[in-house]
Amino acid sequence: MSLFFILPMLLLLLLTVCFSTKTVVSSSVGGSSVVEGNVNVNGTASIGFIDEDFICATLDWWPHEKCDYGTCSWGNASLLNLDLNNNIFFNAIKAFSPLKVRLGGTLQDKVMYQKVNDQEPCDNFTKNSNVMFGFTNGCLTMSRWDQLNIFFKNSGAKVVFGLNALTGRQIGSNGTTLGSWDSSNAEALIRYTANNGYAIYGWELGNELSGSGIGTSVTAKQYAADTIFLQNLVQKIYSGFQEKPIVLGPGGFFNANWFNTYVTLASSSLQVITQHIYNLGPGVDDHLVEKILDPSYLDGGSQPFRDLQNILKKSGTSAVAWVGEAGGAYNSGHNLVTNAFVFGFWYLDQLGMASTYNTTTYCRQTLIGGNYGLLNTTTYVPNPDYYSALLWHRLMGRHVLSTTFHGTNKIRSYAHCSKTSGGITLLFINLDAK
Ligand SMILES: *[C@@H]1O[C@H](CO)[C@@H](O)[C@H](O)[C@H]1NC(C)=O
Ligand SMILES: *[C@@H]1O[C@H](CO)[C@@H](O)[C@H](O)[C@H]1NC(C)=O
Ligand SMILES: *[C@@H]1O[C@H](CO)[C@@H](O)[C@H](O)[C@H]1NC(C)=O
Ligand SMILES: *[C@@H]1O[C@H](CO)[C@@H](O)[C@H](O)[C@H]1NC(C)=O
Ligand SMILES: *[C@@H]1O[C@H](CO)[C@@H](O)[C@H](O)[C@H]1NC(C)=O
Ligand SMILES: *[C@@H]1O[C@H](CO)[C@@H](O)[C@H](O)[C@H]1NC(C)=O
Repeated sequence: MSLFFILPMLLLLLLTVCFSTKTVVSSSVGGSSVVEGNVNVNGTASIGFIDEDFICATLDWWPHEKCDYGTCSWGNASLLNLDLNNNIFFNAIKAFSPLKVRLGGTLQDKVMYQKVNDQEPCDNFTKNSNVMFGFTNGCLTMSRWDQLNIFFKNSGAKVVFGLNALTGRQIGSNGTTLGSWDSSNAEALIRYTANNGYAIYGWELGNELSGSGIGTSVTAKQYAADTIFLQNLVQKIYSGFQEKPIVLGPGGFFNANWFNTYVTLASSSLQVITQHIYNLGPGVDDHLVEKILDPSYLDGGSQPFRDLQNILKKSGTSAVAWVGEAGGAYNSGHNLVTNAFVFGFWYLDQLGMASTYNTTTYCRQTLIGGNYGLLNTTTYVPNPDYYSALLWHRLMGRHVLSTTFHGTNKIRSYAHCSKTSGGITLLFINLDAK
């Protein structure tokens, strides 16, 4: 049995093995003389399953000129200029072996991929407040793509790459897109990647274009058609390969009608349905800490996990749900909140809650960059949540157990079968321990 908690003052006694015949494990919890309670874990059957490598983190494209509310928090953390020779960075990923890393974000739908022998210039994103997302199109050179792939291979990352889903579409006068996806540039990148033997775990189509979209949107019907096209393309390009990359989509915010249509039409052509979570609101909010420590606010965060799971269940699909990007507070988070110890209360609670709804992978925005990095943007030194992520990865196994805590709503509890032993790992989050 192991314990996993981010509070200093809990005593716990528990003697059990996962899936023992004993159905209910009770234990009294106390210690700080203020908190007393009882935890019940039903160890007879699991209520959910997560991936072995459930922990995932994102890398983004934002250049250092990306600023929010007067603060520029991205430094040199763009995929285009991250320091791939930094040892702390390398070891931070290596510690997971593997860490899932999702490459994407807002500007992914503005990235062109340089073609081999292409004479066209491959320009960087340039700040321009008159265009969507505030930057002109950027370009990924194949020499940078080589460096990234070599780095990810050596550090043991499992890479999910977010493809530009806006190529070939027009944006109509009402702000929504018209037309279907032009896959030719993506096809060139995927072929180059496959031909060079770079292992990609998954290809994901687009970023935040579902529902009413961020910046612009694509209808669910069109998105489904484009996803099916991508799956066929991947099957074709990797036809001789033993292991084929998975296909993911839509990487956007949950919208019941949109996701329902998308899952109905596309789910036999993709392996993972990805949604994004920013349930704390804008990073500029001065009340983020109050929200993070409010049990009813945290409870509200379970809604999108439940809703998506219900859609998947009803459709009978074998596709699973992931959180493809979650930074809590949008527009780059909030310095000294979303990169500080207090954010662990939100982050660990999200990991626990998402798991109970069969969300099989959870990608934290970001591994580095913005104000919500697991690593410090300038020094690459781990922020507190890095250790929460690593502890979760080492301790929490695939089987999720039903867990209830009676006593105070300020203690939140989650239990999984242990990752390495035959016992149970219990996670307590004490919102009073800030
Ligand atoms: C424990 O879970 C099993 C399987 O889901 C269920 O049959 C049983 O009633 C649960 N026990 C309690 C005490 O809730
Ligand atoms: C980014 O890199 C440049 C050039 O190497 C350096 O001068 C600058 O200090 C770096 N910025 C940050 C935030 O690390
Ligand atoms: C893009 O900008 C980064 C710094 O922001 C620089 O390191 C890189 O060389 C530039 N790439 C190109 C192709 O100009
Ligand atoms: C936007 O305009 C297009 C035609 O230009 C139309 O097909 C579409 O339904 C409109 N979408 C919305 C949300 O009004
Ligand atoms: C999670 O998946 C398992 C196995 O498929 C299923 O029995 C369970 O009901 C699912 N849980 C939720 C909350 O959908
Ligand atoms: C990141 O490191 C810099 C340089 O040491 C430091 O000034 C800054 O406060 C750190 N950021 C966080 C969130 O700890």
